[in-house]
This record gives sequence, C-alpha cells and structure tokens, in this order.
Amino acid sequence: MCGIVGYIGEKQAAPVILDGLSRLEYRGYDSAGIAVFDGEAINYKKSIGRLKVLENLTRGGLDMPGFCGIGHTRWATHGVPSNENAHPHFNQKETISVVHNGIIENYLQLKKYLEKKGYVFVSETDTEVLAHLLDYYYKGNPMEAIFRMLRRVEGSYALGILFAEHPDTLFAARKDSPLVVGQNEEGCFIASDVPAILKYTRKVTYVDNQEIVKLHASHMHFYNIDEEEIQKEPVLIDWDANAAEKAGYEHFMLKEMYEQPKTVTDTISPRIRKGDIQIEELHMSDEELAAVRKIHIVACGSAYHAGVTGKYVIERLARIPVEVDLASEFRYRDPILEEGAMVIVISQSGETADTLAALREAKKRGFQILGIVNVVGSSIAREADNVLYTWAGPEIAVATTKAYSAQLTALYLLAMKFAKVRGTVGNEEFARLLNCLERLPYQIERLLNTKEQIQKFANRYLAAKDIFFIGRGIDYAISLEGSLKLKEISYIHSEAYAAGELKHGTISLIEDGTLVTAVSTQPELYQKMVSNIVEVKARGAFVMAVTGEDNREIERAADYVVYIPETAPVFANSLAIIPLQLFGYYVAVGRGCDVDKPRNLAKSVTVE
Ligand code: M6R
Repeated sequence: MCGIVGYIGEKQAAPVILDGLSRLEYRGYDSAGIAVFDGEAINYKKSIGRLKVLENLTRGGLDMPGFCGIGHTRWATHGVPSNENAHPHFNQKETISVVHNGIIENYLQLKKYLEKKGYVFVSETDTEVLAHLLDYYYKGNPMEAIFRMLRRVEGSYALGILFAEHPDTLFAARKDSPLVVGQNEEGCFIASDVPAILKYTRKVTYVDNQEIVKLHASHMHFYNIDEEEIQKEPVLIDWDANAAEKAGYEHFMLKEMYEQPKTVTDTISPRIRKGDIQIEELHMSDEELAAVRKIHIVACGSAYHAGVTGKYVIERLARIPVEVDLASEFRYRDPILEEGAMVIVISQSGETADTLAALREAKKRGFQILGIVNVVGSSIAREADNVLYTWAGPEIAVATTKAYSAQLTALYLLAMKFAKVRGTVGNEEFARLLNCLERLPYQIERLLNTKEQIQKFANRYLAAKDIFFIGRGIDYAISLEGSLKLKEISYIHSEAYAAGELKHGTISLIEDGTLVTAVSTQPELYQKMVSNIVEVKARGAFVMAVTGEDNREIERAADYVVYIPETAPVFANSLAIIPLQLFGYYVAVGRGCDVDKPRNLAKSVTVE
C-alpha cells in the first residue's frame, strides 16, 4: 500500500518527509515523490524506483527549501509505475498538490466531467481528479474546496493537500484508508502509518472516517464532514519501531489477515454500480462475454486454490465449463484450447515463472488472456491482454491471506457477470447474491474476532504429526488452501482430501487422536459430510468441523465446531478460510516458527 508523510513546522520539511517515507519502505512501493512550499511556489520532485533515487535527486531533501510539504511512496493501482503517475499530483497551475492512498471509485465519471470543463490530465491515476476537482471548487477558501470535493468522491482516501496560496497550512482528510497526525515542539505531522513519525512523536491522533484536519506549525484543528470543528484526543504509542511496522500485530501475516475485510471491500465495491456488476477492465461487451464457451484457469499455489473455488462458482452460477490447471503442468501438457475458450491466469505477485510461462504458451496459441493480478505493472499484468486487479495492496508475509481472499472475490465478480450476461441467474437471485457479496467484509471481521478461541484450540495441536482437511465440492477447494496454510508455516505434514475419496486410501492414515478438519458449508452435501465425519471418528480421529450457523446438530458428530455466518453457499469459502488461516497461524506461532518467512520459501517464485 502507498505511504503518505507530511510535515509543517520549524525544521526543513523535505528531510523530515524523506526520513518518514523511508520508514514505510518495508510496505513496498514502485515510485516516490515529494512537494514542498519553498516560499514562492510548490516545488516538487518525483521518481520511479527506490526512494534512494529521490534522496539523491534532492541531496537527502536539503536541496528543497521550505517548511511545509507532503511526500508519497506509490504502489501502483490506476496506471503503471511511472514518473507521471507518481504522486504528488497537481492542478494545471501547480498551485494545488495532492498525495493520496486509497481508490477513487467514481474517478472516470469525475474525469469526464472535468475534461468537459477544459481540464487536461497528465496521468492515468484516479488521484489526479482530486487535484483538478479542488482547483474547480477553489475560490480562495481551501476548506470549502476540500469539503465540496469530498462530497463528490466515492471510494477510499487518505489525503495530504497543499495550497500555494496558504503556505502556512497543511490539509489532510480520511475515509477508509488509514491516516494519523502527530505533533511535537517543532511541528505537526501527517502519516498513513505510525512508524513514519514515531521518531518525532509518540503522541498521535487517529483521523476517523470523513474527518478533515487543518495543520499549522504549532497546532491543528479537526473537522467532520458537516464542517463542524471537533475535539480529538491523542493516544500514546508504546510499540517499538518493529511492532509499529506491523501496526502492533505480532506478524505481518496476522496484520494481513486483519486487512481482509478492507481488501474484499476494495476489490468488490469499485465494480458494483447501481445493483449491477461492471468490470470495465475486461474490455469485452456483454455479447462477447456471453460467447465464451469454456474457461481455463491457470495458477500456482494458493492462487491455484482460488482457481479451484472459481471453477465451482463459475460452473454453478454461469454454467460455463471450467478447467483448472497448475501452471507448471499446463505449460508442458500441450493443452487443448478450443475456439471460444478464455484463459484466466491468477497471480498475486504477477511474477511467478510457471504462471508467466503458461500465459505465454496460451498466448502463442492465439488466446486472449485475462490476468487476475495484485501487482500493477508486474510481468503478468503487462503481458496479459486484460487485467482484473485485486486491490489487496502489498503482501509481505510469504503465506498469502489477503491476496487469496481478493482473488476469490474477483472470481465471484466474474462468475456473477457471466451469469448475468448468459441469463443463468434471475434478477432476484442476482440481487440476493450481490447483497451476500457486500456483506462478506463484515462477516470476515466477525470471524477474525474469534481468534482467541481458535488460538486455544490450535495450542492443543502443536505436536501433531499429521493433520487432514476434508470437504466436498467448494469445501474441498477450501480444504486445499487450509492445508497449505498450515503446512507451509508450521511444517506439520497435512493433506487435503475430497471427503468422498478418503476411503480409497488415505483413511488408513487416521489413528487415535489424528486431527481431521471437516469443512461443510454446502447444504446439499451436508449429510454426506456428516457420514464422512462419522467414518473418521470411528477410526479414532478428533474432528474439527467448520460449518454454517444453522447446522447445530453437527455437534453430535464432530468434537469441536466453528460456525460461519450465513451467506450464499457459493461464497462460503471466503468465510470458511478465516478460521483455517487463524488455525495455521496459531499452530505455527505456538511451535515457534518464523511465520512471516517460512524456511525454503520465497514470496515470489521467479524460477521454474
Ligand atoms: O504470486 P503468485 O500468486 O503467483 O504466487 C503463487 C504461489 O507461489 C503462492 O500462492 C504460494 O503458494 C504461497 N506461499 C501460498 O501462501
């Protein structure tokens, strides 16, 4: 995710801002920029690549005089990494400067509106509309312009804003993207994350949704969206710098699990418009979409598991046959790709060597490729014909959690879009599914809040030798992911089985006390799963069941039950995965494993 730092005070601003940005480098970024009011105008520098480049360009900031400024490290979302797309963004006269984290969902409409008014855009970003919109509303009173702009924008934002005509003020605002402000004897600060300013102050104030802050060198004022001044209390941060990077969480993996509600919201909400799903990135008309006869999904690891879920969901909702391949197999198996087939490659990093090779193989055969990718400007994003981005932000833990959740969400959107254009789901059912989709983030949050119970349970299995995961249909797909999460970070041997397949071999491995996690979220398969639970229990297994809230009688068969909130069965994986992620995480923590950097693994596998 992008980083924001701003400063106004007695010290030269640029070195303070660059220092703050350097403390956010661990979060990942592809370009950086800084803007400082130098006494006459807003002076700025931007550069693609590492922050070091910007530091060299400005001699560590010393070449940029001035006491009020904003800086940004960008992790590309709208538009590739480039100098033009790097922040800060400006109005045409370069008298208003903006840095932004988040996504402006209605930026295309706003852009069209402003272009009609004669505004000229120089970047591909959603952020640039904010600078022009501020210019459009600015009649001498910056707060009025900010309020009017914020009322027009939809989406999420943390903002730092400079007005050249008001060099003694730094403005900030926030909705659904984190922002903190702080103060010491030498000035006031804004930051997207606490570590950026921890060196300067430990007293910070969290800016809440739809609040605006006006910062001066020695004081600051807070306002709500109704333009009323409000009082806020600072909090004292007692984490060390290392913990602050993780926002107080013990590991990046846990932090990223907690980011899942936001990730899912960010992936869904820009694509839902007036009760419909619009995926502009597909660049395909409804007729072209309706003509797709077959889908091939190709990916590795967890992205492959997301693809297996995608198969079940697309086939069920849209009635299009889907084949899912491991990229390392697909590239060498001389796959039969018929006319009318669509190839979807899924990758968080966009750099996985096998997935990239599979993409090239399909392209060579003349197929259009849709990438579901998290990293903008990555190799897969560049080489795919169209890209549906998952807005998960940078993922640092090797074991994926939030990117996987975003991949599931992107596949649900696709499945529903296909279903709509093919008429395989009626209007009423479509509206019901949309409603379920929009409720997922809150339900994920509820499940995350059960972490203490899961931790207690996990602590009983720290010495386990083998753990099995079973499920049927969509629940088999989630078992694959639950099992991978556990084994890759805890080093406990674990396997996922289609529950009906167990009796064809694997059941011989069940001994007294072996833990079997049985996922049962599909109503039509529920009784079958109960029979499978009884089967393994008869061989001595201890069974943890993950099921819907209505299935209370499962307690008669299983030993320990985790209930997930009610949703459409096709979306149940997004909820069932949460206790499984928590379980894997706490087993690994309990065993003292290096959770964020498991042995022998890399975040991005760029070799075959
Ligand atoms: O970057 P990608 O999504 O292409 O990576 C694919 C796999 O390498 C990745 O999902 C891997 O399995 C993770 N370690 C799972 O947590």
